[in-house]
Amino acid sequence: TILVLDFGSQYTHLITRRLRELNVYSEMLPCTQKIADLTWKPKGVILSGGPYSVYWDGAPHVDPAVFELNVPILGICYGLQEIAWKLDNKGVVAGEKREYGHAYLKVDRHGDGEAGGHVDKLFQGLEDNMEVWMSHGDKLSSIPKGFITVATTSNAPFAGIAHTEKKMYGIQFHPEVTHTPKGKVILKNFAVDICEAKTNWTMSQFVDQEIARIRALVGETGQVIGAVSGGVDSTVAAKLMKEAIGDRFHAVLVDNGVLRLNEAKQVKETLTAGLGINLTVVDASELFLGRLKGITDDPEKKRKVIGNTFIEVFQAEAKKIADAAHGSANEGEVEWLLQGTLYPDVIESISFKGPSATIKTHHNVGGLPASMKLKLIEPLRELFKDEVRELGTNLGIPEDLVWRHPFPGPGIAIRILGEVTAEQVRIAREADNIFIQEIKDAGLYRKISQAFAALLPVKAVGVMGDKRVHDQVIALRAVETSDFMTADWFPFDGEFLKRVSRRIVNEVDGVCRVVYDITSKPPGTIEME
Ligand code: XMP
Repeated sequence: TILVLDFGSQYTHLITRRLRELNVYSEMLPCTQKIADLTWKPKGVILSGGPYSVYWDGAPHVDPAVFELNVPILGICYGLQEIAWKLDNKGVVAGEKREYGHAYLKVDRHGDGEAGGHVDKLFQGLEDNMEVWMSHGDKLSSIPKGFITVATTSNAPFAGIAHTEKKMYGIQFHPEVTHTPKGKVILKNFAVDICEAKTNWTMSQFVDQEIARIRALVGETGQVIGAVSGGVDSTVAAKLMKEAIGDRFHAVLVDNGVLRLNEAKQVKETLTAGLGINLTVVDASELFLGRLKGITDDPEKKRKVIGNTFIEVFQAEAKKIADAAHGSANEGEVEWLLQGTLYPDVIESISFKGPSATIKTHHNVGGLPASMKLKLIEPLRELFKDEVRELGTNLGIPEDLVWRHPFPGPGIAIRILGEVTAEQVRIAREADNIFIQEIKDAGLYRKISQAFAALLPVKAVGVMGDKRVHDQVIALRAVETSDFMTADWFPFDGEFLKRVSRRIVNEVDGVCRVVYDITSKPPGTIEME
């Protein structure tokens, strides 16, 4: 394992990401981590970048014990300055200008002889000149004792330094971003060749490890409950639990009445018949629709009502399952709650937020109250979304589920602008179903990140047959995005839109017009409410 100590750079998680791509397991911890508290010994340590200056009062610093671990250390940007500062605090100065963007790095092979061979290892297999990405304000004005320069740029005479005896390195640029095209080779040189970290982190190894961990955690009789939605994260987490503890995992699908067309039925089929998961479907549609009645103009209220009702229904079901388990001969109490938390959520909570910031604990519990007194089990907390997909495929989850677009918790209630009624739900569902079907038939589903039909709360005039009609308007939305923070509308061709529009107007009762939303995010959001 490589330990990545985070000083708060926006790129830190990419370091762990690149190492995983190299099949090297790594763990990210805040820079203030006490080394004595670690229960494992890292094979190497990477100090990340960060937004501070090492010479500021209150700037974050590593536990000096890092330097006593006697394992290789690589400092990146702030990490480089931290090494220089810790070992010789005169060598860091504010740069005359912030350097941000591309730079050309010249690898200095001069130091080879003096360095006893290991210096070159950081840059082995690379050309002498390469493009790198810089993002820093400070730089070194001199290098600490015992180090030599191994790379330079026109603006940073000490863009790469290495200790002549100890395996300590510092680089001013960011090898973890794709703007440093050969950055991954540098990280491989460090982790694999210099630290000699094992390259055995694979998905099937992860599955075995995680199953063993879950079994040890839950014990011989412990029981786990978890909500599933039909989305990829909760399904993958549920399947992993099933593999680990069989029917002692209880999945619950709450049908809130605003799922997609036939969704509850399909999820039940896939999870029970297909994946063998012990699933209870609770049909609470009438309760949800009853509570949504009369909310015409307040999307946040819709969210709150759906969220609270969900908790209520899930808790009641959890109690039933727990009561049934209670006192049974070979089954223990329901003590655990399964959560599909992913690594990006974890990063959000463990990233170093500043010298005085306290570290948040993450509660992606969909608002489940602490009064449930369940311990959390989060088998996906080390994975990125694409790794969850890979894991899903590995566990035999059908392709179309693994690649499913995200779907919001409040469902199509936030895609029905205005009041949510059973009739409006029918219209929105049927239109959505046609749109998604056509997208799949056109082979565009994976290219698009998220797509849906929304129902506008207005009426427009049309002629259908010989009749004048006054019916509702469907708005189609489809976006491409990599992070869901910004998004572009998808440029369908005219023939495709024509086909979808014709089908919706002909097949969905109550709709006489179809429009396509051509707003990007920002200023729009992906959902319409
Ligand atoms: P927006 O509309 O904010 O959506 O651009 C970004 C992503 O978040 C999803 N989304 C939600 N997911 N509960 C959820 O579970 C919500 O209330 C919610 N609102 C938006 C949206 O579908 C998109 O993927």
